Amino acid sequence: MKRMMTLVLVLTGACLIVGLHSSTAAPQADAVERPASHLTPLMRMKLDRSKGILEGLTLEDFDMIVSNARALRLLSTEAGWNVIQTTEYAAQSRDFQRATDLIVEAAEGKDIHRAAMGYVALTVRCVECHSYMRKVQAVPESTNRE
Ligand code: HEC
Repeated sequence: MKRMMTLVLVLTGACLIVGLHSSTAAPQADAVERPASHLTPLMRMKLDRSKGILEGLTLEDFDMIVSNARALRLLSTEAGWNVIQTTEYAAQSRDFQRATDLIVEAAEGKDIHRAAMGYVALTVRCVECHSYMRKVQAVPESTNRE
């Protein structure tokens, strides 16, 4: 039963990632207006690393989980990560780091279920921050401090 729950959670996480991916790719006009920036490689690395975590979870390969979660956390400390300087963005980044820490901790303790939970929490962080960014980019400068 516990395994079943974990599977359901991991699948939910995977669906969220896929949803995120398609929604970032969807508006073609937007892609024309905003060509790939110098940040794109850094941002795309997040996707590769989170896929790596999912792979580790499904194979129950704890080393793979730990190394990808660590790399993901490290990415969030790169200079290019702080695209905007708002308290909300900083808070989103901290929540994101907490989720990566949780995954590392769980995987080091060989707890696949907690690691899966951490992965779901992490996926929620991806979606939340992206949704915040869309909101910020959609409103005028003066009203975007939340
Ligand atoms: C704290 C905020 C934040 C979090 C958390 C976050 N992202 Fe992002 N992400 C951004 C910003 C900002 C951009 C857009 C950067 C730009 O302007 O090019 C972005 C862009 C992306 C892109 C698009 C890159 C492209 O092709 O232009 C992908 C893919 C991505 N993120 C994946 C993820 C994944 C996967 C996660 C979770 C593991 C995640 N992000 C978590 C802020 C965040």
